[in-house]
Amino acid sequence: MKLKCFCTISLAASFVAADWQFKSRPDLSPPILNIAIPANQNTSPGYLFAAPFSGYADNKNHGPRQAAPYIFTDKGELVWSGFSYFSIWATNFQKGRLNGEDILFSFEGSHNPDYGHGHGHVTILDSHYQTIKELRAGRHKIIDKHEFHIIDEKTGLVQIYQPVPRDLTLYAKSEEQQWIVDAIFQEIDIESGEVLFEWRSLDWISPDESILPINEGQAGSGFNSSDAWDYFHINSVDKNEEGDYLLSARDAAALYKINGTSGEVIWKLGGLPELSSDFKIDFQFSFQHHARFISRNGSKEVISFYDNSAHGTENKDGKTVSYAETSSGKVIEVDNKEFTAHLLREFLPPDGLLSKSQGSTQVLSDGHVIVNWGSKGAVTEYNSKDEAVFHAYFDSDLLGENVENYRAFKFNWIGEPDEDISLYSEISADGEASIYVSWNGDTKTQKWRFFELDEEGEKQIIGATTRKGFETAFKTNKIKLSNKVLVEALGERGEVLGVSDPTLSQKEIIPAGGKKVSTKNSFSNYFEWRMWQ
Ligand SMILES: *[C@@H]1O[C@H](CO)[C@@H](O)[C@H](O)[C@H]1NC(C)=O
Ligand SMILES: *[C@@H]1O[C@H](CO)[C@@H](O)[C@H](O)[C@H]1NC(C)=O
Ligand SMILES: *[C@@H]1O[C@H](CO)[C@@H](O)[C@H](O)[C@H]1NC(C)=O
Repeated sequence: MKLKCFCTISLAASFVAADWQFKSRPDLSPPILNIAIPANQNTSPGYLFAAPFSGYADNKNHGPRQAAPYIFTDKGELVWSGFSYFSIWATNFQKGRLNGEDILFSFEGSHNPDYGHGHGHVTILDSHYQTIKELRAGRHKIIDKHEFHIIDEKTGLVQIYQPVPRDLTLYAKSEEQQWIVDAIFQEIDIESGEVLFEWRSLDWISPDESILPINEGQAGSGFNSSDAWDYFHINSVDKNEEGDYLLSARDAAALYKINGTSGEVIWKLGGLPELSSDFKIDFQFSFQHHARFISRNGSKEVISFYDNSAHGTENKDGKTVSYAETSSGKVIEVDNKEFTAHLLREFLPPDGLLSKSQGSTQVLSDGHVIVNWGSKGAVTEYNSKDEAVFHAYFDSDLLGENVENYRAFKFNWIGEPDEDISLYSEISADGEASIYVSWNGDTKTQKWRFFELDEEGEKQIIGATTRKGFETAFKTNKIKLSNKVLVEALGERGEVLGVSDPTLSQKEIIPAGGKKVSTKNSFSNYFEWRMWQ
């Protein structure tokens, strides 16, 4: 099987381009998933959650046109475009549970791709896609992009990238190299914003444990606060039922368990060289991301994480430095008494991906696993036998080049958007009409029922059709040219979930025997055409 398939989907993409995908939503230009292993009946239920962005700094003719949080089906169909819902740059987009409610959250803020950090806050949306909370770190610190994780539906774990001046003469060539990053995490009460726990790496972890030396590339050379040495680099935090924390520290290439009362290091797993590990382990990993406690049985604890086994520009040639042939998702068992760690499951990429940054591994309740290949911009679902049952890149064709995606997940989700239903119809002089309808973020509509409003404003039914994906097309020859069209969204039991506003529905009259003139399909051209007509 040829896996990195840019075949049919990308061919279509090159002609249709990333715009004009939806006649009812010409403003939306979501990524077109390039699916290499199509999902069949064997994938887990739920939607894919991701926030793809361009890995190029110039943001020109590559990478998603509209980098943003998205919800997709695993058939590649758009469910919700979060473009414009978050400002600046958004990542770590997930569904969560807060006080008994399903919510969405995402980091939004500035992004510094050269040093791999960001500054911003966490935005929480309800099931109507309305912002209900912006969460900031406490004690005059700013949340970094890497982590937001809800514990017991009440508290949030966040992580902070805090440059501080220190004497670094032990590590640096010059006395002017004085800046180091204190890698901090806080547990915050989401409701009140109170900081319940704070941990600072420099209180506990010596720079001796860093794998990436000061002076080289991405980890920083410490000459000023913007260039502070990122010696530890926390990229995930979790908490177990005992109240202890699990950290993934990328630049120490290790996982740490932290006492949730005292802050002491309970153990360290990994590190290069492995001599610094507290464990005897039967696998290798490094520069990992997204470590999560999965379960516990006595002294044995199951943990999942994404093993990059590679890092990026720290090498002076600007090349990826790798410690394995590919990256992988891993599920391990650590014995907290015997200090042994054992590989339980490993998820290798279907097409040899090695990602120098980012990545996630989500273990679903049915044993399926979602692995997101970070800087490689791809996602894979594995079944409980560790076989790949779905594999896709986060955009297609030119736009798919160098797309990156920090984390990806599969979640069940019920969306009831406050956005209006969007309706667009093309009607020819003899009454042939194509009607297009969509409702960004809606997951409940099963059927669309169409009406026209006659001269008296009375609703006359035109017909109905089953909902198909994000946008549903409906053809009819019953509409009068002068009449307005409206549509009702019908739920599972035929109940009306929403009605379009007929004054907002767009209508194009197609001249007899004529064809629409503009078939321009590049995003900017399209807007030019809209503006000048
Ligand atoms: C900080 O130090 C780096 C590395 O020496 C340098 O490239 C950068 O220009 C400095 N920034 C400022 C604001 O001085
Ligand atoms: C954590 O620290 C507390 C207070 O020092 C101590 O009582 C407890 O035993 C420690 N827990 C672990 C797992 O080491
Ligand atoms: C927990 O471990 C014990 C002893 O190894 C084993 O007998 C038991 O089946 C395990 N329980 C679960 C839920 O895995």
